[in-house]
Amino acid sequence: MILLLVLLAFQILAVAANPIKHARTALFGRRGTAQQDFLVTSLPGLTKNIPEHDIPLMFAGQLELYANNDTHYFFWKFSDRHKSAEAQNKTIFWLNGGPGCSSMDGALMEAGPLRVNGQAEVVYNEGSWHKKGDIIFVDQPAGTGFSYGQEYDSDLAGVLWHFLTFLEKYFALFPEDAENEIILAGESYAGQYIPYIAQAIHDRNLRVEKDNVPKFNLRGLLIGNGYIAPNEQGLSYVPFAVQAGLVKTSDPYWQKLLELHERCQRAVDKSHAEKSLSAYAIVNKDCDRVLTVLLLLTRDLLAAEDQQCVNMYDYTLRDSYPSCGMNWPPDLPDVSKFLRDDKVMGDLNLIAHKRWNECLGLVLNHLRAKLSMPSITLFPELLQHTEIVLFHGNRDIICNYLGAEGMIKKLKWSGHEGFTSDAPVYDWRHDGSVLGYVQMEHNLTYVNVFDASHMVPFDKPELSTALVDVLYKRYDLKHPKDEKPALVTHLMASTTDDNSGASGTEKESESSGAVENDQQTSRVVRVIQLAVIVVIVWGICALYATYKSKPTSIIKTKSTGRKKNVQWADQLEEDAPDKKDGSFFKKAINKFTKSESAYLPLGEDAIEMEHQKASDDDFIIGSDEELEHHR
Ligand SMILES: *[C@@H]1O[C@H](CO)[C@@H](O)[C@H](O)[C@H]1NC(C)=O
Repeated sequence: MILLLVLLAFQILAVAANPIKHARTALFGRRGTAQQDFLVTSLPGLTKNIPEHDIPLMFAGQLELYANNDTHYFFWKFSDRHKSAEAQNKTIFWLNGGPGCSSMDGALMEAGPLRVNGQAEVVYNEGSWHKKGDIIFVDQPAGTGFSYGQEYDSDLAGVLWHFLTFLEKYFALFPEDAENEIILAGESYAGQYIPYIAQAIHDRNLRVEKDNVPKFNLRGLLIGNGYIAPNEQGLSYVPFAVQAGLVKTSDPYWQKLLELHERCQRAVDKSHAEKSLSAYAIVNKDCDRVLTVLLLLTRDLLAAEDQQCVNMYDYTLRDSYPSCGMNWPPDLPDVSKFLRDDKVMGDLNLIAHKRWNECLGLVLNHLRAKLSMPSITLFPELLQHTEIVLFHGNRDIICNYLGAEGMIKKLKWSGHEGFTSDAPVYDWRHDGSVLGYVQMEHNLTYVNVFDASHMVPFDKPELSTALVDVLYKRYDLKHPKDEKPALVTHLMASTTDDNSGASGTEKESESSGAVENDQQTSRVVRVIQLAVIVVIVWGICALYATYKSKPTSIIKTKSTGRKKNVQWADQLEEDAPDKKDGSFFKKAINKFTKSESAYLPLGEDAIEMEHQKASDDDFIIGSDEELEHHR
């Protein structure tokens, strides 16, 4: 009892030292269970750089999926405070790929309303998808970005199952959104995640139908430069490199490339003939190897160090070898600095502070997905009940558009193979210019985006928002005589003029009301805390009188800031009369150290793994692990 009191006292003192951030810690109910616990009210530069009108309503934090293995998924939700009619009742989930790459790429460099400047402060991104619906960036599977857990997923079945759990918990936290239309969006390796999750949502809806449980209202999929049919896509590397002028048939290594290309071709033929898991293994070394070797062979040793390799995400750019694009986009250092800042982690309501990595090799190495068929095999059935939009920036090498077009040509759905002659190729006109082309038939839409990289919303923020309009068929089709037919989308209506109408104003007062409420709550909480502190101080004095010989053991701490509380807790544990596992005391300590400053062991091996070069026999995964990331 006395030790518990002391524990309480120290927690209160921690709260007193930083009243706002710790206002809702374990003392008054578990943090991270109520919507208010996730509200984001400050970020470096937020009010300084962004007009109040544009500041989105934000929620972020690590949502508990499973208590038994401590799995938490980090999400960051952005809603427009002045929602247009078309943005109402829509929830877009965005996933980056990897596997193991954080969706903070998407949030802070692509589709989100915030970007990070050179001072590691947020600035506003005019071309943000939150104007088209609420957008939520989710770090998954466990271990990715700010998400964590004691176990890593080793196949896509696990990934989809955990994402379904995430959705259940998410909509329990935001019940007002539970009937929203859901759009699953993402990029690259998310071309594996998204179709699997969509299929799982569909299966779940069938399952819960009879139990009167509300269905997830899945509206469609938006996949950017997706890694969907890896083997077929592997066949595109050599043709794409030739077309882009990266290699010439007169180059000394041309024969070598052809040989690798043929090996990939044989693997693809085999997978079509056998349709077995082993033949279809998502990561087929022979096909992935074509790109790895291509980057190696085209390395320019005479160029400056940071120019030696072609950028595999944008063939018009160069990077050092063997990064070959992993140092790009140029915002990445600022974003990393921003997300590694303790203050920012606090602003984002992290329960467990964790060093943010854009991509984590540990997640990738666990999720080799050899036990799952590539997601393209799900398409024929999915397309019977789901709209799918595939968009491809045409400068990307790793998931290039030639591979996508080849994959669609081979895809059998709705009784035909590839697009039929009834599906014309439309010029994509936006703001008066032709910025790409589009083809669609029977729930599948393919969009080629000109002058865009692997990360389309990075290069073309405003244009990329129109992809949501493409999914919702908010466009005009023009069939002029003697000219190519055109699909016309429209610039986003400017919302910076203040005549945004009654509904906008209403929303605004509603959301600022939420903020006010939050501040009031924390004020009340602080008053209670103060009262408790008084009691506790009295308790400590009483304790001190009784245990005069003991206090040094309690107060003794390491002076190295972060570990301080852990050290103190260890100390206490040694003194604890009851050291049995699972005792209430131990649980209290665990909770305390976790909510306070525990550095997850996960982060530490993860960092090690990132620099680890694996053995030669695993050439593709190991020799240059970086090249493997389809982010
Ligand atoms: C396309 O999807 C809708 C549901 O969104 C479905 O009703 C329709 O049958 C599908 N079309 C085809 C050709 O499968």
